[in-house]
Amino acid sequence: MKILFVAADPKPERWTNLIQQHLPEAQIQVWHSDMPSCNADYAIVWHPPAALFDREPQLKAVFNLGAGVDALVQVPNLPRNIPVVRLEDAGMAVQMAEYVAYHVIGISRDMDVYREQQAAGQWKLRRPIERSEWPVGVLGLGHIGQRVARTLAGLEYPVCGWARSTYAIDGVRSFAGEAELDGFLGETRVLINTLPLTDSTRDLIDHSLLSRLRPDAVVINVGRGEHLVDQDLCRAIEEGRVSRAVLDVFREEPLPTTHPFWSMPQVNITPHVSARTLREATIAQIAGKIASLEQGQAISGVIDIDRGY
Ligand code: GLV
Repeated sequence: MKILFVAADPKPERWTNLIQQHLPEAQIQVWHSDMPSCNADYAIVWHPPAALFDREPQLKAVFNLGAGVDALVQVPNLPRNIPVVRLEDAGMAVQMAEYVAYHVIGISRDMDVYREQQAAGQWKLRRPIERSEWPVGVLGLGHIGQRVARTLAGLEYPVCGWARSTYAIDGVRSFAGEAELDGFLGETRVLINTLPLTDSTRDLIDHSLLSRLRPDAVVINVGRGEHLVDQDLCRAIEEGRVSRAVLDVFREEPLPTTHPFWSMPQVNITPHVSARTLREATIAQIAGKIASLEQGQAISGVIDIDRGY
């Protein structure tokens, strides 16, 4: 079995050694743009070039090295007759849940204020948290969104979730589809975005959406930068509709140094780290799926290219 590893990683052997450990019989090659076709059976990819699919027409499946397949589905000649598979959880959901919980707790418990008070040598108690004042709404209820929603529900925040269809998750009120978006937003003060990026979710978080949240809203974006209309968030912050934003993903990464977000005290910026791809868990998952396919078994995580996730 031949596997092609296609990702711009300066140390691809960190991945290929692991693949080899999991699939000792495999012949593994690292893609480079001027290599001849190697008749690969499987490709493990992150942001692959279109040339890959012209040169390797006999692929049996393509595995994305991340949860989000937005870049992959843009490749015009991505094959439609074989499974294209995204990463499912692989240690990312718990990281997202802790990233989001950290910020929701920190903001609702005034941790920044206590830091400032410490700097001023002040011992001053804030009002205890009233959880009903911090209703949380999670956009997207995939592996990651569900884990985030369940984690916050476990901390007894009121939690709603919005997705294309209804989900039964303990402690989470589920809203579905366009028709229920208003109802969801009206219940939400802390908006958390975990949606996949598709044509129907791009630019979803705009001024109109932000205006429908509860007052003094908080926005946490761990989905993709393109979900959020940056200037609309700036405006909502200036108007006082949104009081805090925690942004881990951006339209352009690294975020250009001239971007207004950098200098806004209401905005927390992290460099796309809310859920790192964990090599061991990732390769274990992909290798397990390759082994299943080789035995003719069905696998999960196959995307619908037209739907975009
Ligand atoms: C990271 O952003 C991913 O899609 O896994």
